[in-house]
Amino acid sequence: MAGDEREAVAGPRRRRNPGGPSLRILVLATAGALLVAACGGGDLPQNSLDPEGPIARDIDGLWQLTFWIAVVIFVLVQAALLWSIFRYRERPGDDRKVRQAHGNTRLEVMWTIIPAVLLAVLAVPTVSTLFDIREEPEGDVLEVEVVGHQWWWEFHYPEQGFYTANELHIPEDRPVNLTMTSADVIHSFWVPKLNGKRDAVPGRLSRLTLIADDPTPEGEPIFGQCAEFCGLAHADMRVKVFVHDEAGFGEWAAAQSQPAVIPTDGLAAEGWETFKLVCTACHPVAGAEEANVRLAPDLTHYGSRTTFGGASFRNDTEHLRAWLRNPSDLKPMAPERNDVAAGRILGMPSFGLDSRQIDGLVALLQGWE
Ligand code: CUA
Repeated sequence: MAGDEREAVAGPRRRRNPGGPSLRILVLATAGALLVAACGGGDLPQNSLDPEGPIARDIDGLWQLTFWIAVVIFVLVQAALLWSIFRYRERPGDDRKVRQAHGNTRLEVMWTIIPAVLLAVLAVPTVSTLFDIREEPEGDVLEVEVVGHQWWWEFHYPEQGFYTANELHIPEDRPVNLTMTSADVIHSFWVPKLNGKRDAVPGRLSRLTLIADDPTPEGEPIFGQCAEFCGLAHADMRVKVFVHDEAGFGEWAAAQSQPAVIPTDGLAAEGWETFKLVCTACHPVAGAEEANVRLAPDLTHYGSRTTFGGASFRNDTEHLRAWLRNPSDLKPMAPERNDVAAGRILGMPSFGLDSRQIDGLVALLQGWE
């Protein structure tokens, strides 16, 4: 019985509808083209194929070299494949036996040696670029210490003596030596237009050099992102890099080096009273001895920043008010797991502030330019 069934199914091979496969290929090709096109349009702030500094350009150069070699191989292989498919396709009444190439020493040596040579050719510039971009810069270098936190970046300028958060300011055309670590879990610092990514690991120091060609236009910093999954707000752990000309950087650094001015009257002074009660448990402020705990972003010149909350939210009144009401409404965090005494902070809690207190804090923070 079973044999009979198989007999019935097997029968002579049916010719497929000749329009079928080619239509499917057309649909697939169109979908593929649309998918690829979707990657190309518009503003791509984290596009490593659009380097804005010599190190990123070296990496991009390697990629271009590899890509174009791969394109040539792809075209050759596909051409050979298509030629074979059409040249040796099955024709009606054709019952040739396929010639077996198994054990063909010449072919096998060829397809071993060609890839080996290609890999060797690619290895030379790859290894030399790897060593180049890892080299510690010398001479006129700006030192910045970076600490990754769940979920924000701390930047310390040891020579200038100040701290900032999430927004990194650097001079154009001058190597910036980032010495990085983490306060909690492994993060990864990545500004694709300036260099590759490098992990920030607790208990270790890692290093990364940034060099930017030109000052960034007003309001258009270079974007970066934590590139190692680090918990709830990993996606909101961003970086913005502002590149200045040498004079502009000097001005910015001089302003950041100033202590915060503690207001003595008006709404901002009320805000300072709230700040001392609530915020100083974690946030440091230069120039205020009440605010010397460094567990959360340094707020000395908070008003000069364009974003906050891991460079994820525009630093305007609306966002700041929403944040002060309940930060977790904006950014997923876990403040219920904070242990301030142990120095573990997983986000800012809602302190149940009333709108008068929020107004005061907004006035205070925006005044700290
Ligand atoms: Cu920090 Cu992902």
